Amino acid sequence: MDFSVKSGNPEKQRTACVVVGVFERRRLSAAAGQLDQASGGRLSNLLRRGDLEGRSGQTLLVHNLADTLCDRVLLVGCGREREFDERRYRKAVGRAVRALNETGAMEAVCYLTELTVKGRERDTYWRVRQAVETAEDTLYRFDRLKSEKSTERRPLRRLVFGVPSRRELAVGERAAREGAAIAAGAHLARDLGNLPANICTPAYLADEARTLAKSSRRMKVEVLERADMEKLGMGALLAVARGSRQPPKLVVLQYSGGTRGAKPVVLVGKGITFDSGGISIKPSAAMDEMKFDMCGAAGVLGALKVCVDLQLPLNVVGVIVASENLPDGDASKPGDVVTSLSGQTIEILNTDAEGRLVLCDALTYCERFGPEAVVDLATLTGACVVALGKHASGLLGNHAPLAHDLLNAGRYSGDRTWELPLWDEYQDQLKSNFADMANVGGRDAGTITAACFLSRFTKKYHWAHLDIAGVAWKSGKRKGATGRPVPLLAQYLLDRCEGRGTPARKGRGAAGG
Ligand code: BES
Ligand code: MN
Ligand code: ZN
Repeated sequence: MDFSVKSGNPEKQRTACVVVGVFERRRLSAAAGQLDQASGGRLSNLLRRGDLEGRSGQTLLVHNLADTLCDRVLLVGCGREREFDERRYRKAVGRAVRALNETGAMEAVCYLTELTVKGRERDTYWRVRQAVETAEDTLYRFDRLKSEKSTERRPLRRLVFGVPSRRELAVGERAAREGAAIAAGAHLARDLGNLPANICTPAYLADEARTLAKSSRRMKVEVLERADMEKLGMGALLAVARGSRQPPKLVVLQYSGGTRGAKPVVLVGKGITFDSGGISIKPSAAMDEMKFDMCGAAGVLGALKVCVDLQLPLNVVGVIVASENLPDGDASKPGDVVTSLSGQTIEILNTDAEGRLVLCDALTYCERFGPEAVVDLATLTGACVVALGKHASGLLGNHAPLAHDLLNAGRYSGDRTWELPLWDEYQDQLKSNFADMANVGGRDAGTITAACFLSRFTKKYHWAHLDIAGVAWKSGKRKGATGRPVPLLAQYLLDRCEGRGTPARKGRGAAGG
């Protein structure tokens, strides 16, 4: 989809469709009011017949509205004006795009971006960027593996968003460009997540990283093979890979957009391309969803794609730690003790707690990058889904300012995260009779004890952990990867770009809500 911005009156747009909002009780938005006036009150006449009350999500397509230059007008219900918040804004845009997609319009000018959205700093930049991201999210399809491609007739090619004044054209254009880049990063993460484990193997992820690296002179890629891991002493990672015929890969992507020598932000992604649980095997119900256990790795690739597309002036390192977790005659067994790259020994009491095992060696490996901050993303615990559901990722870490920045980036991008405590008291649950630590901490506080485990490998730098088990994919009828947490990471990185002064960064220090 092609996105752009424009200022000017709706009745003067020579386009296939103009999109305007209507609030509950048939209250016209400013743009709808202008159309109404231009057409001599025909719009309000039409609404009086009762076809659109203005409830959130309703749409009504009107053809040939008198004295306007557009072929159609799409009215979009926005709910009560007083309650028009971020969620309802996204819903309105999503419904509008879906409805537009079913018309014959190739192009539309959408004025929803001129509505006032409740909340701090939801300005033109935010509204246009969210609109672009929401549009791409709504139009996403994954039919690569179907022999009959989607039969929807989809002529819509171009979406133009209205901005309230010419002064805001530049900021609107930047928002459209950045929104499109974030959407493309999320799209990549989503595709990789949706690919089944027989296609998306560790080697496939490594190839995907190589492809991404080829797209920019600023990107370098290196892939550590099993032999390299053995030489280094990555006993925890290797213990997970033992049960699989697919060799593990540790992929390092280095994006150098910042000044030479500037410390990098390091993103580490869990890339278990299929998690059967290993010998501690999972029940078979919904086990197919464990193909999504590489969504952390996909998120790293998506975030790096955003860096490349926007040429962000930062140094960013992406680390993907990829393996399958399968049962086998040679697989790790409950009770096995292994030595991690850090030298610490681990008793593997449950082979299904494999994510922390692969991550701990990757996290130790990160020390060599002299990082400014390390953020790992992992579909790490079912307990996180129990605690936070599907709406927020879990956030834990050892550096309050880093956690604060991620919380803010989540709030601004809509890809939210929520902090859980990483108190020392929880560390006791990892005690082992036979090794330095066990890889599981019992039933209580499963997300926290998983992070406690990781914290023992991240003492040398600022670190945050995102447990994305609840947010990375949807189950049920609309099963599929979401592309999260790419928007959150992209926002975090954008906020780190000097002198950009995006609202999320300006909001720093302000009361959190
Ligand atoms: N990949 C899973 C976590 C998971 C499970 C995410 C279900 C989303 C839905 C992870 O490897 C795992 O199996 N974790 C165990 C840890 C337990 C053995 C301590 C879990 O959550 O049950
Ligand atoms: Mn597992
Ligand atoms: Zn897993």
